[in-house]
Amino acid sequence: MEEYLLTPNEFDLFRKLIYKKVGISLADGKRNLVQSRLRKRLAHHQLSSYQAYYDLLINTPETDCEWTDFINCVTTNKTDFYREAHHFKFVAEQFIPEVTARAKTAMGSPRIRVWHAGCSSGEEPYTLAITLQEALQGRGTWDVKQLASDIDTQVLAHAEAGVYDLDRVAPIPQPLLSKYFLRGTGPNSGRVRAKSILRDQIAFRQINLLNSPWPFSAKTQFDIIFCRNVVIYFDKPTQLRLVDRFTQVLRPGGYLFLGHSESLLGISDAFESLGRTIFRLPEGVAMKFAA
Ligand SMILES: C[S@@+](CC[C@H](N)C(=O)[O-])C[C@H]1O[C@@H](n2cnc3c(N)ncnc32)[C@H](O)[C@@H]1O
Repeated sequence: MEEYLLTPNEFDLFRKLIYKKVGISLADGKRNLVQSRLRKRLAHHQLSSYQAYYDLLINTPETDCEWTDFINCVTTNKTDFYREAHHFKFVAEQFIPEVTARAKTAMGSPRIRVWHAGCSSGEEPYTLAITLQEALQGRGTWDVKQLASDIDTQVLAHAEAGVYDLDRVAPIPQPLLSKYFLRGTGPNSGRVRAKSILRDQIAFRQINLLNSPWPFSAKTQFDIIFCRNVVIYFDKPTQLRLVDRFTQVLRPGGYLFLGHSESLLGISDAFESLGRTIFRLPEGVAMKFAA
């Protein structure tokens, strides 16, 4: 593939475009990264400059799949099963006993609603699905649903298929791997697929977190929002708006999990910090939005 250089001016054009469409705020030092991420779009269209690709893009209707390909190129999708494992331990050891105690007074099957805002290729929602399955065993019938969303359609398709190479599933303890995944054979040997007991718990959807309104009912109340290693790519005003919108779809007493290098310092004081990037929306907060 021919190597073309992304000039500082071209970088600036793309940087503004990426910020506007995805919210990702790119520092000056990210010129090489953008150059290498977009190289394949130039090759695909047989273009010989980044300016030519920029012109092509901004003259393309927003509904065209070129925009999807562009966005899929610029996102960073690093993820793992059991990434930041203490979050899953917290769900099993603190959240589940708490909701189980509350469920004793509830009518019908008690519900758990979770949103993974920025789920990448699905390792995070599948890890939580295993955690919930295991923790709810022997605790009666539960109505558990997870919404897993991302802006990137390529990783979402991977997540929805639930198929992973064996090296990707290495963090899953062997007994849980055998219990919740099927081993591929023939052309699929060396891979596993999540069983339907996990897949049926999760709905995958493309959602751009910047878009408003989000495509779910105004009455939606999640018990848990995972938004881990996503806001790190956003600037402060974008983080502020996003976290404020999370408070409106999180049940009072619900939990927000952020990534290891993210915090709510200077972003929101609506949450109580429980340490290790676990935040709780106090019960009283509902009143703020009740009018
Ligand atoms: C580094 S991954 C984190 C995956 C997972 N939450 C974890 O911690 O392992 C960040 C994800 O956020 C997604 N993302 C970035 N900007 C987004 C936006 N504006 N709306 C929705 N998703 C976005 C990316 O596509 C990427 O898959």
